[in-house]
Amino acid sequence: MSLDKNLIESLIDITSKAAISCYPHLGKGNKILADKAATDVMRYNLNKLNIEGEVVIGEGELDEAPMLYIGEKLGNNKGQKIDIAVDPVEGTNFVAKNMPGAISVLAISEKGNLFKAPETYMNKIAFGKNVPKDVVDLDNTIEQNIKNLSDFKNKKIEEVTICVLDRERHSEIINSSKKLGAKVKLITDGDVAGALLVSDTKYNVDIFVGIGGGPEGVIAASALDAMNCNFQGRFIFETDKDKVRAKQMGIKDLNKKYELNEIVKGDSIFCATGITSGDLINGLNKDERNFYTETLITHKSQNLVSIIHKKYLAE
Ligand code: FBP
Repeated sequence: MSLDKNLIESLIDITSKAAISCYPHLGKGNKILADKAATDVMRYNLNKLNIEGEVVIGEGELDEAPMLYIGEKLGNNKGQKIDIAVDPVEGTNFVAKNMPGAISVLAISEKGNLFKAPETYMNKIAFGKNVPKDVVDLDNTIEQNIKNLSDFKNKKIEEVTICVLDRERHSEIINSSKKLGAKVKLITDGDVAGALLVSDTKYNVDIFVGIGGGPEGVIAASALDAMNCNFQGRFIFETDKDKVRAKQMGIKDLNKKYELNEIVKGDSIFCATGITSGDLINGLNKDERNFYTETLITHKSQNLVSIIHKKYLAE
């Protein structure tokens, strides 16, 4: 069975309205308020859908409400059983500072098909379509992955670009890549969009690597799957609390390297609306009467990858 394609229009409206709710918070320095506004809008509108939904990737646990928490039931309980991954604001700093690259994003699958992940870090790697699985691997050194990609794509190492979050923890990846002569594209936040830059040659990114949020990894994986790209991830469970939580969620091997088809199975829909313009997608536009939104949508079973523009009355 696949997901009802009629859900797509509603999901575009949901991420669009969540994005619009951030507009008053742009550049106001308060990422919590922006996140809360987008979360409220997402919850309200997801609850109107004809689905029996459950949040599997959320913004926290039950005790951290009002965030959309893992295990929260959504929808009017009348339709398909759906797993939902939400990130109402991906790049909360971008909204607070009115910087490029903030998106409002969600992904859905049929029940049981999206990895239920706790809020921990994940070591991840993403690469584009037509690159065979054995060319790039999370457990290779960055040098090896770059050399393999350079050989496979028949392009000079100097032309290979890796995208990575600009964090101290990535200094070895960054320095080794530069030493080898590859191009490094640093992003300050927003690794869902960062990972998706491998999906099209127009972005000039060959590989995305590094440690970021686990939930963001699962959400990016759903789009990459529909785009026929590739992804691997390994959760990082540091504290005892993380380890206990992971076990409670059914994760047996805490060091397991997950392949894309273990993170996202079957059909999926991914939907990301730009809040502020970034490499992946344009942000909100507004005139006196309307908001104009741009949304990237993928639907695996329809082989759909599309950018949708919509207009909403500004109240
Ligand atoms: P938020 O939007 O929740 O602030 O997350 C932004 C983000 O950059 C993610 O894209 C990324 O996965 C994570 O934070 C990286 O975490 P950290 O800032 O702790 O390195």
